[in-house]
Amino acid sequence: MDLIDRLVSAVGAEHVLTGRDVVAGYEADWTGRLRGRALAVVRPGSRDEVAAALVACAGAGVPVVPQGGNTGLVGGGVPRGGEVVLSTVRLAALDAVDRTSGQVTAGAGVRLAALRAHARAAGLDFGVDLAARDSATVGGMAATNAGGLRVVRFGPMRAQVVGLEAVLADGRAVGSLAGLEKDSTGYDLAGALVGSEGTLAVVTAARLRLVPALPARATAVLGFGSTEAAVAAVPALRGPLLTAVEVCFDDGVALVCAHRGLAAPFRRPCPVYLLVEYAGEHDPTDQLGEAVAGIAGVLDSALATDEVSRRRLWAYREGHTEAVGALGVPLKLDVAVPPARAAAFEAAVRAAVAEVAPGARLVLFGHLAEGNFHVNVVGAGDEHALADAVLRAVAAEGGSISAEHGVGVAKAPWLHLTRSAAERDLYAGIKRAWDPGGVLNPGVLIPR
Ligand code: FAD
Ligand code: MLT
Ligand code: ZN
Repeated sequence: MDLIDRLVSAVGAEHVLTGRDVVAGYEADWTGRLRGRALAVVRPGSRDEVAAALVACAGAGVPVVPQGGNTGLVGGGVPRGGEVVLSTVRLAALDAVDRTSGQVTAGAGVRLAALRAHARAAGLDFGVDLAARDSATVGGMAATNAGGLRVVRFGPMRAQVVGLEAVLADGRAVGSLAGLEKDSTGYDLAGALVGSEGTLAVVTAARLRLVPALPARATAVLGFGSTEAAVAAVPALRGPLLTAVEVCFDDGVALVCAHRGLAAPFRRPCPVYLLVEYAGEHDPTDQLGEAVAGIAGVLDSALATDEVSRRRLWAYREGHTEAVGALGVPLKLDVAVPPARAAAFEAAVRAAVAEVAPGARLVLFGHLAEGNFHVNVVGAGDEHALADAVLRAVAAEGGSISAEHGVGVAKAPWLHLTRSAAERDLYAGIKRAWDPGGVLNPGVLIPR
């Protein structure tokens, strides 16, 4: 029996896709920049079907690319050439919220928006939120240790995962969904899978912590004359109600306004903008107003408490990815530096782009509370040279070459900048221990 026949007997003929036009949708990433040909797409509907599909691929010596919502931005979820794409879309079971533990069990293919709606219906919420919420899945977010818009309050995916269930390349199931908040029996296997980008096992379900729903929100956009002034405002904003501190710049905001047909936030543009959100049980408007009043250097501000006005303010920030994509296919580098070094890093990035890609269009934005910048460059020319310059600037500031999107294939060549030889040896050893045959996502995270 050949591999396709084995996959058909594992999951049923309608869930093994081989037609070029059908498979095409699984072959390119969200930006269209990273792509490759797939041998086939397989869509298992249960943990046992995942195991059978993996055993078939391992037996045939064909590598597997796990794929969730395919919103990843580093090429880890799309084929490089000749792999089987294992799509988790059918692993979409969502158990009832367990109010006693404040947790829920979700299939790997459950989408973030569905998870949040489910948690809210039970009077709770899920701590991670990001603009790709309608497509990004629990499995993909766990595999990339996704962060997003509320990390300052609730932490990234790593902080939400209590346990994972996963299948190794040889078909054995590992992990636990029992939801034990205390468990000191040795190595943290679920912890190793968070951020593993599909290189160690296929996550089939997750046991997730939920957070209080925080029904009352206040959102502000603040304009500053410099990044130094914006960074200096962060300490005054910190406190128990702080939920987001996002940064963007005048050129990016103008781009979003033009793309979405929005009016500018203020009569006069400001060089730097912060979007700040407070959330709690009770209306936090006064506390946000007081915090803002204590900040020096605010050139202009807008405050919103009702849902429509809050959404309008968020659009200036959340519209960036789409507006940049409309300019052309961008080089996207998601990086983090210690927040206190944010202004120095921004200057270094602007200098690197001016030197290496003088004609390119640079759009910066990100999550300032975590020093997380999204460096987007359209028309970079020599993308490798530009990525090299930017990622070296990150390393020089003591930062990370990936804050929240993962390493994927896009950044694997630069892992050595922020992981020592000893650490990379450990990575290789962990990979060998979990996936000795090298079936899962070869070339992702660990350079070939
Ligand atoms: P995919 O893209 O399908 O896969 C991502 C990686 O996970 C791949 O390496 C894949 O092999 C692996 N994988 C997927 N499912 C599994 C599984 N079940 N088991 C093992 N491995 C698996 N990210 C942030 O962190 N913060 C943001 O604010 C943010 N905003 C975004 C906004 C937009 C508009 C877009 C397009 C993306 C954004 N992202 C953001 C990128 C982010 O990585 C993804 O949104 C999300 O984490 C990936 O989920 P996914 O289901 O789409 O995974
Ligand atoms: C965001 O914060 O909007 C994202 O991580 C997406 C991006 O980098 O474009
Ligand atoms: Zn982000």
